[in-house]
Amino acid sequence: GKRYLVTGSASGIGHSVAEKLLAAGAEVVSLDRNEPTAAVTQHVKVDLASRESIDAALDQVEGTFDGLLNIAGVPGTAPPETVFAVNSLAVRHIAEAFFERLNPGGSVVVVSSTAGFGWPERLEAIREVLATDTFEEGAQWFRDHPQTGNTYNWSKEVSTVYIHSMGLAFGDMGFRINGVLPGPVQTPILQDFRDTMGEDTIDGLEELLGRHATPEDVADVVLFLASEEARWINGECINVDGGTSGAVLSGSV
Ligand code: NAI
Repeated sequence: GKRYLVTGSASGIGHSVAEKLLAAGAEVVSLDRNEPTAAVTQHVKVDLASRESIDAALDQVEGTFDGLLNIAGVPGTAPPETVFAVNSLAVRHIAEAFFERLNPGGSVVVVSSTAGFGWPERLEAIREVLATDTFEEGAQWFRDHPQTGNTYNWSKEVSTVYIHSMGLAFGDMGFRINGVLPGPVQTPILQDFRDTMGEDTIDGLEELLGRHATPEDVADVVLFLASEEARWINGECINVDGGTSGAVLSGSV
């Protein structure tokens, strides 16, 4: 059977991904600060804001995997350094720890966000932070280079560019890395997004679309990208937002 490591499996999108994998007969190793309710194969408690905690957690996990599904994330209501550590630095650190642990043909899927849409304007700074070699150096770069706006958006810009920039390197090793960029999803962190991005923005999208995404809407795309059906998609990010990003880009809303 297939084996997947899933971060963020205790809630929301990660919970849905874990349930779907288990229902399909796969083994799921969970990394989260909270205990998942899904009947996972193994759960390891971790604080993804800490490199030591991540390494200690990975030490408790044995064997190789068909996929790393990096779904955990924190909203902009958390302290900026935590947001950047969990949403950007941990994503990169775990992906690179998995060079050794992926089976041939294995893949990494990262959940970033449509909130990272502004990355082309900040590409130079993003490339600088991604040029750091370690989690600690990345955290130091972040302290030394305060960014404008919400750290959540910045952290997702970094994560989106990381995915795009690593496709060829992963391909060279016989792996893939891709991203899913959701718009608002009905999960516990949606209220935090109302608080940081404005109720009008979040509720306006719900009004426009008739509903927010469900965790399942997003989980299905994560599983598609991790599957053999997506074998020629690499270094790519897919918006899962009911059509709003395309509408904004084409100027139709
Ligand atoms: P959620 O809050 O339901 O789940 C997040 C999970 O990550 C939780 O299980 C939490 O315990 C875990 N986590 C957070 N910080 C952690 C830490 N320091 N150490 C270990 N585990 C930690 O949120 P949701 O919506 O399922 O979010 C999943 C991903 O989707 C995140 O990366 C989020 O940024 C992204 N996203 C969510 C959107 C939404 O509207 N809900 C929109 C766009 C992106």
